[in-house]
Amino acid sequence: MHNAAFKALKIDYVFLAFRVKTAEVGNAISGMRALNIRGLNVTMPHKNAVIKYLDNVDQTAKSIGSVNTIHNRDGTLFGFNTDGVGALNALKENGTDPKGKTVLLLGAGGAAKAIAYTLTQEVDKLVILNRTAKQATDLANLLSQKFNKKIIGDALSPSTVKDNLNYSNILINATSVGMKPNDNQTSIEPEWLKPNLAVMDIVYSPVETKLAKDAKASGAKVVSGVEMLVFQGAASFEFWTGCKAPIEVMRKAALLNLLRVQKR
Ligand SMILES: NC(=O)c1ccc[n+]([C@@H]2O[C@H](COP(=O)([O-])OP(=O)(O)OC[C@H]3O[C@@H](n4cnc5c(N)ncnc54)[C@H](OP(=O)(O)O)[C@@H]3O)[C@@H](O)[C@H]2O)c1
Repeated sequence: MHNAAFKALKIDYVFLAFRVKTAEVGNAISGMRALNIRGLNVTMPHKNAVIKYLDNVDQTAKSIGSVNTIHNRDGTLFGFNTDGVGALNALKENGTDPKGKTVLLLGAGGAAKAIAYTLTQEVDKLVILNRTAKQATDLANLLSQKFNKKIIGDALSPSTVKDNLNYSNILINATSVGMKPNDNQTSIEPEWLKPNLAVMDIVYSPVETKLAKDAKASGAKVVSGVEMLVFQGAASFEFWTGCKAPIEVMRKAALLNLLRVQKR
């Protein structure tokens, strides 16, 4: 998706993937400085470990302890997290503005934290449910204090999901439930979904998850995880290049490649 965007804008950059061992994270970042690499995306499990090697980390990334994008500005390394803004833009650009809404967020892992941090600043009410309840209550407490808003954290169970869905405008699955190879899993019974709900499943592999299929069948509005993938990538692209990301080009390339991988 990034290479397609560089090509479309005639920017002479290339995006490559490197597998980095945990013990080598510091050396990888030194390599970025030495080779004057313009930008990096950081993925699991290094999103927290890179922080100590950077010169500046923005407030969102610092608060959630997770960096997914590094920008090298003349030798000074800046760390950001674009998952939250990626999720927000995916919702907005697909006709689901969370401003003033009640949002039910499933999960309290890395991506969920970033989404919760960004959405707290937009929504009227946010409920976070997680399999490990303490993760959800800790995150809710952190956000409540930081933004002076009442954010609720609780255990993810059939009854908490069902009860909260009754009062929610938007449901976001930010757990890995439904991700390949467990394509047929979902935490939501199809009959709990309804047409006046918007559902975003951030899982993008498979491209259409069971939850997304069930939501579509119920008449709910569906925002795909591929949209969040594209918009978080677009935010990284804009940090590195200073150019407006060509969203349609990135969306097309992301979908093409995800579908190719899915067929294997
Ligand atoms: N679309 C995008 O741009 C985008 C961006 C980032 C991530 N993602 C996707 O989002 C998903 C989560 O990623 P992450 O980085 O946040 O991972 P993570 O930090 O490992 O968090 C995983 C989350 O899933 C929950 N979970 C795992 N298995 C579960 C189960 N069987 N039942 C209920 N909850 C379960 C975990 O709950 P516990 O705390 O109880 O373990 C935790 O909340 C992945 O599928 C990833 O590919 C998508």
